Amino acid sequence: MKIATIVGARPNFIKLAPVSKQIRERDIDEVIVHTGQHYNYEMDRIFFDQMGIAAPDYHLGIGSGSHAFQTGEMLKKIEEVLQKEEPDAVIVFGDTNSTLAGGLAAAKLHIKCAHVEAGLRSFDKRMPEEINRVLVDHCSDLLLCPTQTAVDNLKREGIVENVHLTGDVMVDAQKDCERIAQSESHIIESLGLEIGDYYLATVHRASNTDDPQNLRAIAQALLELDDVVFPCHPRAEKCLREFGLWEDVSRKVRVIKPVGYLDMLVLEKNARKIVTDSGGVQKEAYLLGIPCITLRESTEWTETVDDGWNILVPPGEDIASAIREFQPRHERQDVFGKGRANAMIVDLVERLAGPGGS
Ligand code: UD1
Ligand code: UDP
Repeated sequence: MKIATIVGARPNFIKLAPVSKQIRERDIDEVIVHTGQHYNYEMDRIFFDQMGIAAPDYHLGIGSGSHAFQTGEMLKKIEEVLQKEEPDAVIVFGDTNSTLAGGLAAAKLHIKCAHVEAGLRSFDKRMPEEINRVLVDHCSDLLLCPTQTAVDNLKREGIVENVHLTGDVMVDAQKDCERIAQSESHIIESLGLEIGDYYLATVHRASNTDDPQNLRAIAQALLELDDVVFPCHPRAEKCLREFGLWEDVSRKVRVIKPVGYLDMLVLEKNARKIVTDSGGVQKEAYLLGIPCITLRESTEWTETVDDGWNILVPPGEDIASAIREFQPRHERQDVFGKGRANAMIVDLVERLAGPGGS
């Protein structure tokens, strides 16, 4: 049996790690296709190196560009690879342009496609990822949902067949790396941080970075806080520089390059609070029990808000006060599963890809 896994951006690599491990443990032939959407060492290779992911069999080298350029180029090149390799199934992860291109290319070639992290919805169509999620879910043959909310979202759109609640692969990734992160990461010492006494910030959503007013409001809020560590996504760096905010922010805030997954887990675990617009980081904050302030109007990880561990604060509001004042009230629930989503996912993909699979 041959399975093609298609990835391209940082969150895709993190979700691939536990799934690829499981595929290889079963001696299934895996072909890893990397679109090249992310390419800086700290956005790309570091995750393969640290998480033990095999080097991609195909690197398509697409790089940055507009949505249409990126998705179109990926679609053409992924199609060529799939035609050559003829896998029994394709797996795509999350909601990036690489996910959409992989899902569409497979569907048009009538290759069975499994979507890991199916059913997520923010109900905000201005978010490019929301469009990717909806389209990939509607062209996939196997819908692998991290939460019951995701299963319910698909049901509302009429998708009820081949929908499975697997739990979240990011729980698996975290469990796999927690111990090694503890022993191998020295980020707390090297940045001279006090445990539990700093804010961790990440910002990269287009709606925040590309809009000067929103980015200025976020920068202003970070400047009002003491001890902020900000692993800065290249998109945010580019926009901070373009809007003349870089000098001020980097003078007061500890702006660092994006960090690898091991350092990130340690930074998250020891933070006083996390300020983010990332999907994955919101979820990790919840899993680690760190209060999270999300700089957005909506979230696809609604359970984190419903349970009172995450609040939505769009850049138009008083972000700094919200960050200072927010205190979670309730117990956390076990909404993302206990780990081992990867085993269930590969069981289901094997069934899909096997003779007569559906
Ligand atoms: C993409 C995903 C987003 C995900 C994010 C994770 C889409 C539509 N968006 O957003 O869902 O949350 O990745 O990080 O797929 N850049 C570099 N080097 C890199 C990567 C990016 O310099 O290695 C810069 C380029 O200027 C590029 C910009 O960042 O134009 C945006 O990159 P892109 O992959 O288009 O979108 P992200 O914002 O990273
Ligand atoms: N992450 C990381 N280093 C960083 C920032 C984020 O390893 O500097 C990890 C984070 O721990 C999470 C994932 O990247 O596992 C989230 O990806 P990202 O924020 O890029 O995208 P999103 O989840 O919003 O799609």
